[in-house]
Amino acid sequence: MGRLSDFQNHLVQSAKKVSDTISRLIPATDGPESRLSDAMRYATLNGGKRLRPFLVRTSAELFDVPEDRALRVAAALEMIHSYSLVHDDLPAMDNDELRRGKPTCHIEFDEATAILAGDALLTYAFEIVGHPDTHPSGEVRSKLVMALAGAAGARGMVGGQMLDLMAEDSSLGMEQITRLQRLKTGMLIAVACEAGAILGNAPDPAHHALSAYAHDLGLAFQIADDLLDVEGDSEIVGKKTGKDAAAGKETFVSLLGVDQARAQAGMLVDQAIEHLAPFEDRADSLRDLARFVINRDS
Ligand code: IPE
Ligand code: IPE
Ligand code: MG
Ligand code: MG
Ligand code: MG
Repeated sequence: MGRLSDFQNHLVQSAKKVSDTISRLIPATDGPESRLSDAMRYATLNGGKRLRPFLVRTSAELFDVPEDRALRVAAALEMIHSYSLVHDDLPAMDNDELRRGKPTCHIEFDEATAILAGDALLTYAFEIVGHPDTHPSGEVRSKLVMALAGAAGARGMVGGQMLDLMAEDSSLGMEQITRLQRLKTGMLIAVACEAGAILGNAPDPAHHALSAYAHDLGLAFQIADDLLDVEGDSEIVGKKTGKDAAAGKETFVSLLGVDQARAQAGMLVDQAIEHLAPFEDRADSLRDLARFVINRDS
């Protein structure tokens, strides 16, 4: 078995643990409440690569954080990511009907339920992180809440989503696209690594090295997403392809062309890996993940 498929097995094992944790945190309910919990479970337990949780767990391992604490933060971050996808797919946004190979949440349920399930996942994520089971120190929990809120909100993912919608009607240059992508996708990827460092009270240099890795990785990840939208097979990718061009959306691929975009992603991954040098071979999983991000087919 090659190194990449070894890594993919490792990723699948990690994803299982994250799914079990999410399933425990969002139990199925009976009665009138069940519609919301069913939609929350549908949105989070429907597959997904669980890359952000993997980053939380692997970064936390560098600082010997107990597994159950890292898993709670990993699950919370995946809830935020899943909520962002549920809302991203709504008719008012990307109007998509396929996600992770299944009908999107608003198709399976309805729009109002999808909006509420997203709202509930977002708020629940902070309840989980704020709970003493996540970390006995209130200061650590507060740092986690601040970091997650910053990455998810107006100066992070939501801000990026706004710029992304505006990009349909205006032509953006490289600099503006880079900023948009950093906010839309990069910030949640960066906070995944940062959360591991916060949980482990990492020293500043280690914290900075991880952040630098994550920022380059986030950009490479979004270029790969844009490449999949152009070149991917919808059956394998699990979502409709060709959407960006159809929406007239400027991306790295529309600006640079496929070959140069792929070269740029490769360069970013090399750069990301260089930042991991201080961790020596303890960061091999993070190196493997970076290579996987640009070689994935879904
Ligand atoms: C897709 O993210 C949305 C973007 C931020 C580009 P992923 O490719 O991580 O999606 P899942 O979680 O595996 O479905
Ligand atoms: C969405 O970006 C990123 C989010 C913050 C949800 P895209 O709109 O490109 O994601 P996909 O391609 O639908 O997964
Ligand atoms: Mg979108
Ligand atoms: Mg979309
Ligand atoms: Mg996309």
